Amino acid sequence: MIDASLRERIGLIGFSMKFTIVYASATGHTEDIAERLDQLLPDSELKELSDLNDIKDIETCEALICCTPTWNTGSDVKRSGTAWDDHIEQIPTLNCAGKPVAIVGLGDSAAFSKFFCDAMEELYTAFQKAGGKLIGHVSGEDYIFDDSKSMNNGMFCGLPIDEDNESEKTQDRLEAWCQTLLSESQN
Ligand SMILES: Cc1cc2nc3c(=O)[nH]c(=O)nc-3n(C[C@H](O)[C@H](O)[C@H](O)COP(=O)(O)O)c2cc1C
Repeated sequence: MIDASLRERIGLIGFSMKFTIVYASATGHTEDIAERLDQLLPDSELKELSDLNDIKDIETCEALICCTPTWNTGSDVKRSGTAWDDHIEQIPTLNCAGKPVAIVGLGDSAAFSKFFCDAMEELYTAFQKAGGKLIGHVSGEDYIFDDSKSMNNGMFCGLPIDEDNESEKTQDRLEAWCQTLLSESQN
């Protein structure tokens, strides 16, 4: 649950959508970030992707945050390296018409600088095809990396988080992003 001071900073005005945070994680970083988002948002629930009975359960969420790491460097597809890869072909067939959907990506901007958070783009495109209203784009200005599939015209298609190299920036990034999500999901 969001604390009072952050609630004030976010400027919450009574109503907010309920975000379902769905994550998959190989070594725990993405799980940790999903839990921290769950603590920051005023009304949210947390689910591990592999615990869903059916990926179609996502259709019933009011608003969605998908959290994925990037692995499988060098592959053109299935870059998450997690259970998201098992569902990436089915997601475009879901009915997410008008549903606010936001993507968080975990990556390593130093060791994998040419592939930074590539997996975000796959989820973004899949949910766009499902009719989702993609929110939570983030400027690339605050990041140092060579290339990313998840970037278009200077904007990431979601929130990149780099726990390997700049974890000290993570809390500020999460708080600012939650503010963006709460605002954009109401528009
Ligand atoms: C073998 C290997 C491949 C990786 N490939 C990428 C990559 O292509 N792009 C990237 O941004 N990060 C890459 N990473 C970094 C991970 O995505 C990063 O450590 C992330 O925080 C892991 O999240 P998780 O603990 O939830 O699995 C790779 C890490 C390893 C060890």
